[in-house]
Amino acid sequence: MSQIISVNVSQSYNISISYNDLSSLVDFLKNSNFVKKLFIISDTNVCLLHLQTLLRYIEKTNYSYSIYCFEAGEQSKSKEVLFDIYDFLIENQADRKTPLVAFGGGVVGDVASFAASTFMRGMPLIHVPTTVVSQTDSSIGGKTAINHTKGKNLIGTFYQPNAVFIDTKFLDTLSDEEFFNAFSEIIKYGVIMDRQLFSFLETHIEDVLKRDAKTISDIIYDCAKDKSLIVQKDEKEASLRAILNFGHTLAHAIEAFFEYKKYTHPQAVSIGEVFAAKLSINLGLIGENTFIRIKNLLEKFNLPTKIDNIDPDELIKIMQHDKKTKGGILEFILTKDIGEAIIANDIEYSLLIKTIRELQ
Ligand SMILES: NC(=O)c1ccc[n+]([C@@H]2O[C@H](COP(=O)([O-])OP(=O)(O)OC[C@H]3O[C@@H](n4cnc5c(N)ncnc54)[C@H](O)[C@@H]3O)[C@@H](O)[C@H]2O)c1
Ligand SMILES: [Zn+2]
Repeated sequence: MSQIISVNVSQSYNISISYNDLSSLVDFLKNSNFVKKLFIISDTNVCLLHLQTLLRYIEKTNYSYSIYCFEAGEQSKSKEVLFDIYDFLIENQADRKTPLVAFGGGVVGDVASFAASTFMRGMPLIHVPTTVVSQTDSSIGGKTAINHTKGKNLIGTFYQPNAVFIDTKFLDTLSDEEFFNAFSEIIKYGVIMDRQLFSFLETHIEDVLKRDAKTISDIIYDCAKDKSLIVQKDEKEASLRAILNFGHTLAHAIEAFFEYKKYTHPQAVSIGEVFAAKLSINLGLIGENTFIRIKNLLEKFNLPTKIDNIDPDELIKIMQHDKKTKGGILEFILTKDIGEAIIANDIEYSLLIKTIRELQ
């Protein structure tokens, strides 16, 4: 049995969520009028762990398939891997009616969807995400990207998939670190728009930490729903979608300061979220109690919540040069209450310095 979320955007599509069951993918393929040939793009880890499972389902259809697995890791969001994918598509006679299947985490999703959006000006795209990040975030919303040596995600398109198939059983093979780190982004949905999800995490923390299958599936469903609601209201990040950057303004600066070595992205986001919450207190938007709830929940997942001893002026300078910063004006996503976000871009420099110092 799977649960369905419909995403109503320029090209509407369904997200199907299940556990140990991809039969909805089989039904979808059988009922579509694609050319009956699939191009599966994945990475070395996912191919080793889960390709057989995916193929078991695909073999129930009358589609033939070709598979391209690139080396796992962020470094593969590159022009080299992108062009290897184009070569693979050309050599195997892909065309505008043959679907590409992005099977893996956010890296596979981002580079494969960029390839799908540009090859012959667009071919059908199906996401089968396998990490917490890709199931709750990157496979939904249509952002595609590769990195440039001058910056992450500098080259990309908006391109909606034809369907997304989330099977939460794939998550079982993620390490605890990989799995729990991603909860800073899950807690983000709670803080910015989903009070119920936040309380659920607080009250079901034992089951979450045990990685109980039903509890995790419920959480993934809530996040996928939250993300699709935002994307539906603001497909191309004109305004509202910016609230997804809660915790990210400082996180990007911390990641850059340590040259992407000390913290993973979600760990840096955790620090950024505590900072945004502290800033919200200092502006009188929330009380100490709300701040403590956010910080405590992050700490349950062993996520970092203190800012390193970095010169605050330097951190602010890095933030001002981030690609998401327009004209040097810093934008912060703050919270008025658990479940409510506001966008602020007129915060005094001295308050930023004070808030950073309070968390060091
Ligand atoms: N497009 C968007 O809207 C969006 C949103 C958020 C993040 N992203 C991008 O997503 C990327 C991060 O995604 P990620 O965290 O999934 O990283 P990832 O794709 O690198 O996956 C993390 C690691 O887990 C491995 N893996 C994947 N599935 C597995 C499984 N089921 N079991 C065991 N190992 C598995 C991968 O091979 C990799 O080594 C970044 O590049 C980020 O920019 C994009
Ligand atoms: Zn993020």
